[in-house]
Amino acid sequence: MTRAVCPGSYDPVTLGHLDVIGRAAAMFDEVVVAVGSNMAKRGWFSPEERLALLREACSAWPGVSVALFSGLLVDFCRAEGIGVVAKGIRTAADAEYELPMAQMNRRLTGLDTVFVPCAPPWSFVSSSLVREVAGLGGDVAPFLTPAVAEQVRRRAVERAG
Ligand code: PNS
Repeated sequence: MTRAVCPGSYDPVTLGHLDVIGRAAAMFDEVVVAVGSNMAKRGWFSPEERLALLREACSAWPGVSVALFSGLLVDFCRAEGIGVVAKGIRTAADAEYELPMAQMNRRLTGLDTVFVPCAPPWSFVSSSLVREVAGLGGDVAPFLTPAVAEQVRRRAVERAG
């Protein structure tokens, strides 16, 4: 049985993330979507809120569970018996950012990474752009599930007030 992890900040989860998670779910017996906090990124949603949005968005996939993690990804994976990281790649810049992390993870504990090329419709979609567009009043519904889009709209209003 192969368990994989799809780690990310998911602030919030986008349809691009869900494309990668769904494809990972087709490749592995189990997928754990792990919400970590990237210290360099300031968020709109708390880790618990991100987890709840992800749980709902992934509910149709029986082999997919969601979890929070803190600390090193390799430590989380060792504790959970996870042997593979599945990470989406949108652009060459993503590859440049992800490759050293994948190599470091492998060097630390042998945790290996497979890169999943993002489907072209989502190659320009990121959580940070979604937050920026929503914060300035733009329509981000095409990039999110309806439930996530609703929470993003609400948060944008709260932040504006
Ligand atoms: O949404 P992101 O920016 O792709 O998420 C990045 C995240 C949280 C998955 C990554 O920063 C991470 O794995 N953080 C955990 C800390 C860690 O293991 N750092 C060393 C990586 S080699």
